[in-house]
Amino acid sequence: MNGIILKSEAVVASLRAGLLAWYDAHGRKLPWREGARDPYRVWLSEVMLQQTTVPHAAPYYETFLRLWPTVRDLAAAEDGRVMAEWAGLGYYARARKLLECARTVVHDYDGVFPADEAELLKLPGFGPYTSAAVAAIAFGHAANVVDGNIERIMTRLYAIETPMPAGRPQIRAAAAQWVSAERAGDWPQALMDMATLICRPKSPVCGECPLAEACVARARGEQERFPVKLAKAPKPRRYGVVFVILSGNGVVVERRADKGLLGGMLGLPHTEWRSEPYRTEEVMPPVSAPFEMIGNYEHIFTHFALMQDVWQVQLSDEALRDFLRHNNNFQLLSVSEKALPTVFAKALRL
Ligand code: ADE
Repeated sequence: MNGIILKSEAVVASLRAGLLAWYDAHGRKLPWREGARDPYRVWLSEVMLQQTTVPHAAPYYETFLRLWPTVRDLAAAEDGRVMAEWAGLGYYARARKLLECARTVVHDYDGVFPADEAELLKLPGFGPYTSAAVAAIAFGHAANVVDGNIERIMTRLYAIETPMPAGRPQIRAAAAQWVSAERAGDWPQALMDMATLICRPKSPVCGECPLAEACVARARGEQERFPVKLAKAPKPRRYGVVFVILSGNGVVVERRADKGLLGGMLGLPHTEWRSEPYRTEEVMPPVSAPFEMIGNYEHIFTHFALMQDVWQVQLSDEALRDFLRHNNNFQLLSVSEKALPTVFAKALRL
């Protein structure tokens, strides 16, 4: 069936219990696992965790909950404030969907998240992963939750050779074997913790794995070969120059257009990002002043790698006033403020 050899029900039942016992003893203490299951908290944590790692997401999660403890609070928040708090988590489209979803839950569902996986899937920003994760973790439904961690475990456990994304149906069929109404929300989280602590991408510690006896990749001594990857095409390169215009202890920023990359966020002024490097004489800073090139850095976006030169200048109070008067899409931000997306924060760090 589907090109994978399924495990027997007896093996699944016994190893499933073994992994849950391991989770009870060794599972991570994470902020979203504390207290009663609240769909809002589960959803918020899952959206953040799709963006980034557990250690990086945890402080953002705590800040969001402190600022907006319920879905009604988040729905009533000002867009710009939410975007600013999201800065550093990446992909603002997701933050916009987060707000849109909070408002949909408040307006169309009276502030109560639906419990059903198919109903959750209709909410803004909910894909198959988030719908299954919220149905399982917040509502205890037997949903097939499959993220990158669980994919890695399943490709090893069943020695799935088909690379992603074509391998996905086989992986889902493998994961489905283990889904049960019993501790439905703990199960995917136990897998995720096991994937992080034991079934790691490199050097998995198979000696400690509660599923080891059923793992085909391990039996063949090939665990690190899975998941099988297609050779990746290198990302296209783009080049730009970013302008750090300082005045006192502030830096000039602009609000970016709503559409496009980092839409609606604050950013530093910069040239167009294009496929050839810039020559000094072609660069047109937004203000005519004696800029100095202070370095460069690389920033990797999903679809391209950006090499950015950093030009810096210090303006007098008077020159700044004059500049801001003629350019009202710009403003002065305190240099210490963390409201800038990482691609610009890197320039300030220089
Ligand atoms: N990654 C995504 N969701 C997670 C969760 N609930 N616990 C740990 N890691 C995760």
